Amino acid sequence: MNAPEAMKLSAVSHVMNTYSRLPLALLHGSGCRVWDTEGREYLDALGGIAVNTLGHAHPRLVPALQDQLGKLIHCSNYYQIPLQEQLAAKLCELSGLSNAFFCNSGLEANEAALKIARKFGHDKGIARPEVIVYEKAFHGRSIATLSATGNAKVQAGFGPLVEGFVRVPLNDVAVIEEVANTRSSVTAVFLEVIQGEGGVNPATADYLRAVRRLCDENDWLLMLDEVQCGIGRTGRWFAHQWADIQPDVMPLAKGLGSGVPIGAVVCGPRAASVLGPGNHGSTFGGNPLAMRAGIETLRIMEEDGLLQNASHVGAVFRTALAREFAGVAGVRDIRGQGLMIGIELDRPCGELLGRAAAAGLLISVTAERVIRLVPPLIMTADEAEQVVALLAPLVRDLLASPLPTA
Ligand SMILES: Cc1ncc(COP(=O)(O)O)c(C=O)c1O
Repeated sequence: MNAPEAMKLSAVSHVMNTYSRLPLALLHGSGCRVWDTEGREYLDALGGIAVNTLGHAHPRLVPALQDQLGKLIHCSNYYQIPLQEQLAAKLCELSGLSNAFFCNSGLEANEAALKIARKFGHDKGIARPEVIVYEKAFHGRSIATLSATGNAKVQAGFGPLVEGFVRVPLNDVAVIEEVANTRSSVTAVFLEVIQGEGGVNPATADYLRAVRRLCDENDWLLMLDEVQCGIGRTGRWFAHQWADIQPDVMPLAKGLGSGVPIGAVVCGPRAASVLGPGNHGSTFGGNPLAMRAGIETLRIMEEDGLLQNASHVGAVFRTALAREFAGVAGVRDIRGQGLMIGIELDRPCGELLGRAAAAGLLISVTAERVIRLVPPLIMTADEAEQVVALLAPLVRDLLASPLPTA
């Protein structure tokens, strides 16, 4: 073991304290299993928060990345980058859209989307463009994207927020119709097809179709944040495809690079030429290493039928969870699609993170009381059963204690 790997968790940290971390450090992985510095094994139902599409140390991704490391990691967008062309073409083929811009993360993809929404408005003569955003939404932690986010905790301490957002509840067509009738400066609607950080809350297919219609009627851009729910997680390439609609702008990140940082904004014809040279850019965005990671991730997903796997293993999860929690009053809801699953409890359940890790399971908790499972898309049905077998007793234990008073 080399020096950094052998390093123990020290009492004094020089890393800025922006996360409440569990007291364990992961060292290596294989498939859906990871091991920590103490040699303990974990089953990974978190996938680096919906990032490790192909699990860990995938036997076909690793050599492809090694090959790319030996050729060209980075070169700058001063030059043509054929791998960008290749990944953009693939994303357009899969989405039916026409052009992609590359960046490095989800919030950057969303920043680009918001800039497109504003410039789309300015180009039409709207001086103060507005974007419709949602309660419980999460779009990132830059100043603009946290302003678009519908969570007061994420915004606290960072005012003044960016202006130009109109907030509406999810799945309420009447409210957004009212906005259409009363506000002439709106240029775009911006939403997650399934809200991730907000508690795994799906937009209904009917709602998505109604929003698409309103966008067409009002010349608004439909901007679907698929940073978390996209790239095969729900069993289709993109979650909106279940509703048979197309967005004008689709930010992507997380699972696209299977762990290599990457972001993309894929646009249809109405949005694709809004930004021109000098309007937007990124030093690292679209570098050959990240592009290769994206290309290989999508290729392996296709070769190995990982969309079908996400649907199949997602169904196995839902059946097993329904079986384990039948009649358990504290389990309020089990929802989501494919391998994006939320289990809502009747109480805060953040302590499950540590208890699950102690039992050899990695999960997440979001919106305080929703257990979120977003495992690698290579997870097998057997592994899904194992996740549920590890998780269910922990949940039952937690629910056995009296409901905390507020
Ligand atoms: C829907 C959605 N959008 C944007 C983001 C921000 O992505 P990043 O953390 O890569 O900036 C996230 C992260 O959780 C997300 O779930």
